[in-house]
This record gives sequence, structure tokens and C-alpha cells, in this order.
Amino acid sequence: MNLAVRCQNLVKVYDTGGQKVTALNGINLDIIAGQLMMLVGPSGCGKTTLISVIAGILDQDEGLCELFGENLLAMRSKDKLNFRAKNIGFVFQAFNLLPSLNAAENVSIPLIINGMKRAEAERKAITLLEQVGLGARWKSLPSQLSGGQQQRVAIARALVHNPRLIVCDEPTSALDHETGRNVMKLLKDVALHKDRTLVIVTHDARIFDFADRIAEMDDGHIVEVQDKREQG
Ligand SMILES: Nc1ncnc2c1ncn2[C@@H]1O[C@H](COP(=O)(O)OP(=O)(O)O)[C@@H](O)[C@H]1O
Ligand SMILES: [Mg+2]
Repeated sequence: MNLAVRCQNLVKVYDTGGQKVTALNGINLDIIAGQLMMLVGPSGCGKTTLISVIAGILDQDEGLCELFGENLLAMRSKDKLNFRAKNIGFVFQAFNLLPSLNAAENVSIPLIINGMKRAEAERKAITLLEQVGLGARWKSLPSQLSGGQQQRVAIARALVHNPRLIVCDEPTSALDHETGRNVMKLLKDVALHKDRTLVIVTHDARIFDFADRIAEMDDGHIVEVQDKREQG
């Protein structure tokens, strides 16, 4: 079994003006390549912090995090940026779309960062937007789209460069039931058919059936990992 992510004893403490908050308090977690891992747990338990460390957006204070066998913490910053641009797609909870760029331009950013020509990148971006049901809206600015539509643009942007690891923070929270399930189907198709790995933070019990494994977090710890495949 190939591991996409290996976390050993991860600790992260935020220090804001002398006030210390331990967000990760010794996380041990393996994420198997080709699987969809969901991460659940109460608000404030450290889910966003954990996926930020896994994706190399945030450095841990202690412990080891390996992504496809690489220790991002030990990489030079330029190598780390390149590695992340090629291998990771991230859907932020707040979407983080660039307000002055239209949907297709936003989605094409990862391709342009990886060296693709602009016209080709935009063609590819529009194909992805069609897959998330927004083909007709490729010219729209984020401000002209609803929350749910912006969420789908952010998901298209995370998938467009075919990264090996796709990390999503509450990807269906702003979507109605049917759109949410369609987005999950799309994410799962990408993971299954291309042997990609998905990590999805969610509160949304309506999508738990898409998971291969569910890791439950509380208070900076992993308290349980359920294997949904064994349960059939
Ligand atoms: N940038 C930050 N500075 C200080 N504390 C933070 C910061 N980000 C998160 N925290 C704190 O760390 C803990 C875990 O937060 P987070 O990872 O966002 O949890 P979750 O995503 O599960 O809601 C919370 O107590 C939160 O208030
Ligand atoms: Mg969060």
C-alpha cells in the first residue's frame, strides 16, 4: 500500500501576542494513495491546521510530515513551491479566488504557474468549469457568482493541473444537496480513475458515504480512523 501522506507526532502551537493555542497535539495519521480520506471533528479541533501542514502551507513545530515520501520542511523554499505547484490542489474554506480575474482565469492559474501558455490554459480551465456545471459562466467575475458557484470555481482550480493530492476544506458547505453530491462524484472520479489522493475536511454527513476512510479529530488529536471499505 502506497502512502500519500505520513504524519508522525505533529505538533503546532499558535502564539498570538503571548497567548498560546495548541492546534495540533501529536497527530499520527497515514493517508493511503488513491483513497479518499475525510477528516471530521468539531469546530476548532485543528482540521484546517492539519491540512495546511500536510499541504506545506504551514510549518509544524514538531514532528514529521511526508508527502509522497518528501519532507517539505527540509526543502529549499523554491523547491517546495515547485513541488506544491505540481503536486497539490487546495480548496480553501474561503475560496480565495482573485477578485479581478474571471472564472476561467482563476482556474487557469495553476497551469500558468506550471508553465502552460495562457490560451491553452484557459481552454483547459473552461473544460473543467464545464465539468463542475459552470461552462456558461467562464467570463464571470467571482463577485458575479453565488457562494456555491465560487466554491465550484475553487474546486475546478484545485483539479485543473491534475495534482497527485487534492485537499479540500469544507468543499460542499455552500452547496445544495444535489450540487454537493455532483461535486463529490467529480472529486471521487478524479481520485479513483487517476489514482489521485483526496483529503476532505467536512461537517457534511450527507457526503460521508463517499469516503474510503474517515479520521475523526478532537482537540488536536486523531481519536479514531474508520475504514469504510472494510465495512462494505
Ligand atoms: N492563525 C491562527 N492564530 C492563532 N490561533 C489560530 C490560528 N488558526 C487557528 N487557530 C486556533 O487553533 C485551533 C484550531 O483551529 P483550526 O485548525 O482552524 O480548527 P478547525 O479547522 O477544526 O475549525 C483553534 O483553537 C483556533 O482558534
Ligand atoms: Mg477549519
